[in-house]
Amino acid sequence: MLYIGVDLGTSAVKLLLMDSEGEIVKIVSKEYGLSFPHPGWSEQEPLDWYEQSIAGLKELLEGQDKSQVAGISFGGQMHGLVILDKDDNVIRPAILWNDGRTTEETDYLNQVIGKDVLEKYTANIAYAGFTAPKILWVKKNEPENFARIAKIMLPKDYLAYRLSGTNCTDYSDASGMLLLDVENKCWSKEMCDICGITQDMLPKLYESYEKVGTLKSEIAQELGLSDNVVIAAGGGDNAASAVGTGTVGEGKCNISLGTSGTLFISADHFVSTKGQTALHSFAHSDGYFHLMGCMLSAASCNKWWNEEILHTKDYAAEQEGITEDKLGENHVFYLPYLMGERSPLNDPLARGTFVGMTMDSSRTDMTQAVLEGVAFGLRDSLEVAKSLGINVTKSTIVGGGAKSPLWRKMVCNILGIRLEFPKSEEGPSMGGAMLAAVACGEFPDVKTACEKIVKVTGYEDPDPVLTAKYEKRYQQFRKIYPALKEVFPQIQ
Ligand code: XUL
Repeated sequence: MLYIGVDLGTSAVKLLLMDSEGEIVKIVSKEYGLSFPHPGWSEQEPLDWYEQSIAGLKELLEGQDKSQVAGISFGGQMHGLVILDKDDNVIRPAILWNDGRTTEETDYLNQVIGKDVLEKYTANIAYAGFTAPKILWVKKNEPENFARIAKIMLPKDYLAYRLSGTNCTDYSDASGMLLLDVENKCWSKEMCDICGITQDMLPKLYESYEKVGTLKSEIAQELGLSDNVVIAAGGGDNAASAVGTGTVGEGKCNISLGTSGTLFISADHFVSTKGQTALHSFAHSDGYFHLMGCMLSAASCNKWWNEEILHTKDYAAEQEGITEDKLGENHVFYLPYLMGERSPLNDPLARGTFVGMTMDSSRTDMTQAVLEGVAFGLRDSLEVAKSLGINVTKSTIVGGGAKSPLWRKMVCNILGIRLEFPKSEEGPSMGGAMLAAVACGEFPDVKTACEKIVKVTGYEDPDPVLTAKYEKRYQQFRKIYPALKEVFPQIQ
């Protein structure tokens, strides 16, 4: 049989066709726009997601035996607010995971409602990108839109709804709404009351690997597929990526160097962050739980630096001058906070910053600083995990940034852990296809699917000399944000 994984990303939707053995048959990617209507805001049109997904599915299926397609599932960008009216019209563009407009609402939730109370209801505190503060923002700033809300959903759930007609979500993605009681896996009535919404506006909850319905017959016809094709709930992109990299079970770690940068630690039990709320405590797509730190700008910093500032798409050429002897020696530092920062700062007003240049600083030093700054940001999340007594010694790494051997070396030595390279770098789309396969009964559970499919083909171990050099630099990096924290709000 064949299974389709749909990774609804921030810059593109990636569709992957996988066979029963877990081999990738074909991958297709379709881009769409991202708009920043104000500094720090980030929006997308749900209709673009749908149209590009359908176009992508058509291209993916060209030349394939369509009768073999058994299931479709998803990994989707998390936290985005999609609102529909009673006739299922999209009310306004989706407000995305990296949108920082909700400073006031986030402060209200954390300070007036209180972090302890939020943690009791949801296991997490409010971050600007989470869904609940966005609902409060719409309520205050767009009351006419708020009054029209009939359905509230997450990005990938909009696709599942359009494809299957079932208003569904899964526990991993729902965890990032700040509306789910993560430990008890149910919607929090208290959080709904705080946001002024009712539970019937929210989707039905499923495990990521559960069937939510089948492909609507008119879409099946358009695609040349059977209308028995199973639609499975899927997961938030990080949880789906963890499935795609075999990051299931106690203590396993996956790093994603995509638009965002995440450190994902899986667990076989609910994990309380014990007030150390810089990491998120979320449900996992394997039916269990995980902790996660999320940087808002990771590979996107490198994209911005190369494309917007240096006006080149040849990232590798820019990295050529960063020779081995330069690693750990750079005096230029970069704070990767182009969209503010989530983990661990929770500061939507933090901004990207270069520090430490002298007359002899070069373009290459600055490119190096960008790559290192992102790795230092990941290390910040690792430090929080350490403070919770979690000992991470190795991790898989995926995402666009993980294709650069240089960047991988930096991450490896800055975090001081072994990095493993899975055969398939396609985290969320691979995970989506695997979740579809589980929903169709190809594998009894997610863990078995991972054991059968995921293979590690290479690794990198930290070099003690380089790790020591980077340790010194990391301690310097850590001092820069606190020194500038008060300045950022003044320069908006
Ligand atoms: C995770 C997060 C990002 C997005 C990116 O909390 O916000 O990783 O899911 O798509």
